[in-house]
Amino acid sequence: MPALVLLGAQWGDEGKGKATDLLGGSVDYVVRYQGGNNAGHTVVVGDQKYALHLLPSGILSPGCTPVIGNGVVVDPSVLFSELNGLNERGVDTSKLLISGNAHIITPYNVTVDKVTERFLGKRKIGTTGRGIGPTYADKINRVGIRVQDLYDESILTQKVEAALDVKNQMLTKLYNRRAIAVDQVVEELLGYADKLAPYVADTVLVLNQALEQDKVVLFEGGQGTLLDIDHGTYPFVTSSNPTAGGACTGAGVGPTKISRVIGILKAYTTRVGSGPFPTELFDEDGEALRRIGGERGVTTGRDRRCGWFDAVIARYATRVNGLTDFFLTKLDVLTGWEQIPVCVAYEIDGKRVEELPYSQTDFHHAKPIYETLPGWSEDITKAKSFTDLPKNAQAYVKALEEMSGAPISAIGVGPGRDETIEVNSFL
Ligand code: GDP
Ligand code: IMO
Ligand code: MG
Repeated sequence: MPALVLLGAQWGDEGKGKATDLLGGSVDYVVRYQGGNNAGHTVVVGDQKYALHLLPSGILSPGCTPVIGNGVVVDPSVLFSELNGLNERGVDTSKLLISGNAHIITPYNVTVDKVTERFLGKRKIGTTGRGIGPTYADKINRVGIRVQDLYDESILTQKVEAALDVKNQMLTKLYNRRAIAVDQVVEELLGYADKLAPYVADTVLVLNQALEQDKVVLFEGGQGTLLDIDHGTYPFVTSSNPTAGGACTGAGVGPTKISRVIGILKAYTTRVGSGPFPTELFDEDGEALRRIGGERGVTTGRDRRCGWFDAVIARYATRVNGLTDFFLTKLDVLTGWEQIPVCVAYEIDGKRVEELPYSQTDFHHAKPIYETLPGWSEDITKAKSFTDLPKNAQAYVKALEEMSGAPISAIGVGPGRDETIEVNSFL
């Protein structure tokens, strides 16, 4: 049963796109199971750089079928602009499959996302403004629009009416905005129906049949464990489940089918948007990590907050996802530091705490307790095997592995496909 889940072990932007693309050549299906175009996955192939938001990173591997599962939220305008962008660069996207049960990000949900954030002021989440939260809220409130609704005008109109009933009250009375007309939304959505039709499929059936035939299926998470709506730093999270269980609900595949869960782990930590971040650096080291690591958001262009590696978070990710492996990325970015601090535990109100506290208040008070590991200065970007790494880099990887609770099976030493050290095979 070769079903693998690949997900972020921190706050996103760990290098999931690169890792998925790397495996893409050997898998039959790559499936997005949650999130939407809030994701920003960078893939570098030779001298070509691709930024993917909604599409699974497997779309760049010719033999692989990319799938947008039922758990994903789809903005059709973004979908077609991403597809067109890839087609113009010679990428064949015709194999893409989209679940008829996936929810649509409607234009009013993009508006609601933006006005809600403005209204929250200082307390804002720092969302990507792509309508993600309001679309999942509609799904849970049972007033969402699904891809299949585009094929029944009368149902679609009724559903848009139901969704806009309350929203227009809120927009006009609370936020002082103009009401949104049902007809306009329906017309815009119907305009996508024919173009979407060739991609729409019963993806649950397709994926389960593929697994029965021993095909290799890779589930690609958007975001990261600490942004998970249930297991992340709520309320500073995204509105879906990037953690491993999300792959089952978001693609319709049972947990008994999953054979491996790979956590993508950056050799230091970053975060975009608001919320607690114990190892965040506000000094020259933070600035240097941002500069050397190119830590700028792929989706919103915001500078990422940067800090040292946090082993408490990595251990937590191992636990809530049942990780079988880590893929450590961006080790090359740490080249040049004489000493590298690693957070091994927190101090919370005078007490040493080894595991992530379940209380939000405690986590906000958590101060990192660091151990310092010796750095290295040699260029590691050409390293092809673990033993090619300088001794101190090897020791850094081994220390992280020990602290994080799962084997590090691959190590990224640069953004390119081939800039990876494979320690254990994933397949
Ligand atoms: P994702 O959202 O998890 O797919 O990650 P992003 O693409 O948002 O951010 C990761 C960034 O790191 C991208 O610019 C990648 O090209 C880059 N990257 C990935 N792995 C490595 C690595 O091992 N070394 C370096 N230097 N860059 C990497
Ligand atoms: P990838 O897939 C980093 C963050 C936003 C914000 C919070 C909620 O590239 O790792 P949302 O628009 O989802 O409602 O915003 O989640 N966020 C991400 N941060 N990488 C991402 O995706 C993110 N997707 C959402 O910055 O703090
Ligand atoms: Mg990203």
